[in-house]
Amino acid sequence: MKQIANEMSAVQLYKRLLSYVKPYWLVFAAVILSMLVYAGSETAMAAIMKPLMDGSFVEKDPFIIKWIPVALIGIFLVRGVANFLTTYGLGWIARNVIMTLRTEMFDRLLTLPASFYDKSTSGQLMSKLLYDVEQVADAATDAILVLVRDTLTIVGLLAWMVYLNGLLSLIILLTVPFIGLLVYKISARFRRISKTIQDSMGDVSHTSSEVIEGHREVKTFGSQHYEAKRFDKVNQLNRRQRMKKIATEATSQPIIELIAVLGLAVVIYLATLPQMLEQITVGTFISFITAMFMILTPLKRLTKLNSKLQAGIAAADSVFTMLDQKPEADTGTQHLDRARGDIRYQQVGFQYDENSRKVLEDISFEIKAGQTIAFVGQSGSGKTTLVSLLPRFYSPTSGQIFIDETDISQLRLLDLRKQISLVNQQVILFNDTIANNIAYGHQGGVEEERIIAAAKAAHAWEFIQKLPQGLQTQVGQNGILLSGGQRQRLAIARALLRDTPILILDEATASLDSEAERHIQSALENLMQSRTTLVIAHRLSTIEKADLIVVMHDGHIVETGTHQQLLDKGQHYAELHRLQFQQH
Ligand SMILES: Nc1ncnc2c1ncn2[C@@H]1O[C@H](COP(=O)(O)OP(=O)(O)OP(=O)(O)O)[C@@H](O)[C@H]1O
Ligand SMILES: [Mg+2]
Repeated sequence: MKQIANEMSAVQLYKRLLSYVKPYWLVFAAVILSMLVYAGSETAMAAIMKPLMDGSFVEKDPFIIKWIPVALIGIFLVRGVANFLTTYGLGWIARNVIMTLRTEMFDRLLTLPASFYDKSTSGQLMSKLLYDVEQVADAATDAILVLVRDTLTIVGLLAWMVYLNGLLSLIILLTVPFIGLLVYKISARFRRISKTIQDSMGDVSHTSSEVIEGHREVKTFGSQHYEAKRFDKVNQLNRRQRMKKIATEATSQPIIELIAVLGLAVVIYLATLPQMLEQITVGTFISFITAMFMILTPLKRLTKLNSKLQAGIAAADSVFTMLDQKPEADTGTQHLDRARGDIRYQQVGFQYDENSRKVLEDISFEIKAGQTIAFVGQSGSGKTTLVSLLPRFYSPTSGQIFIDETDISQLRLLDLRKQISLVNQQVILFNDTIANNIAYGHQGGVEEERIIAAAKAAHAWEFIQKLPQGLQTQVGQNGILLSGGQRQRLAIARALLRDTPILILDEATASLDSEAERHIQSALENLMQSRTTLVIAHRLSTIEKADLIVVMHDGHIVETGTHQQLLDKGQHYAELHRLQFQQH
């Protein structure tokens, strides 16, 4: 079933790809024309051999002796210009198509839902954007080149050979299928080896990148020897596959030449038979042989076309599949400038996949603007899932969520998310300056005073000040140059500057040293002030101060109340509290 669907879509893929070339049809037409000229000049080159031999050497015709060199230069000039136009024009179209495809893919990445990212790894997505797009353009360019230019060249040369001598052409034509078959077989082997080389290259890069990223683990676990052995294995495999390819390459060329020479030997034998010698001049003979050898190269490329196309089709499929992913549903129409911040969940249920189990069931609670609600519960009980429904990273499978009495599914996505700041367990920083990281998401500039004020309230100013370049310090990829606590404080400063009525806080489980902890604690208190806060709490102090505590278990709410109420009740919360905080 899937196979048939794929076969059918190959045609659609071509059509779709062609639609990207359409805007450049004028250049494309010029390219085709120059290919025609090129094919003509190739034939002319074989053809000029006849007057060159007969006229110049045999008959010593002064006119021909004078004009042959000029004609040769002329042919090469035309051929060169045609070649340049073809290569440049095709390259120009291909680069434009690649850029368009990349832009579309990147735009799509910006609008894809969280569920899409759950299912794909960043490595896969990157390779689509980097390699697959190139491969599509590569294959398409090659296909056009071979289908048009090489085919025309072959036709031109063959026509010339038939014109020179029909019988000899027929003999040559008989060897063509053998050469074709052989080249086809060899390229099939190439394809198989190339695939395993690709895979083993993947292994090499995979194994080494694991060591590069996990260098701390490798060191602490003392697993250098183990990793070295693992790498040696993939490295050896890669070398063996490469050698297979080199061996195939090294034998294929001589074998093809041998077959060609067999054909040549037959031609020479026949051409020098007494009956033949009467009709065939030296010029005809040399011209014929030249054409015969010139046919080999385009013929070789023609037989390789299919494998190239297959790779291109696979890549195009991967690119277009990504482009066809449905973007986040944004069907809400209602505007919301700034919410007050009342939040109500009403019998909310959720599952990540239609056929997976329910992660949330019958979740109902309500908080007023400015209040803090804390979610506690075992790992995997659904806390992160619950809060990620609020910015509509996922949509509830049942029930509704309201902000200020408006169902959030009625709101425009942009307006909804404008109301919410997110401070996560894993802080994501961008490879930019501290100032730009704090002001991230603000269109246009933000005055430095406001950034500094936010940094101060987030207790980040203490350490920023001490950095040699202050706010202009580059933080490195994902803030690698900062400590965990410093990163968190930058995230808090970012949320403070954004100043949204609603705040979602997924507290870090790992506690920091008491000094940093104290800083972050009071930074968070600054941030939570006069904001509706949903906090997934691990710190006792946060939980104690919350206006409402929701205790989760296995996707359900099992208890709600204040700290004291729940302790008095002596059930789930009291138990959790005893387990988690007994040492405090
Ligand atoms: N993207 C996802 N796709 C499918 N299932 C998921 C996804 N994220 C979480 N889950 C599942 O949903 C359940 C709830 O996960 P969730 O992350 O909400 O728990 P949590 O209460 O936040 O746990 P923790 O305290 O460890 O952060 C878990 O069983 C988890 O396996
Ligand atoms: Mg969580």
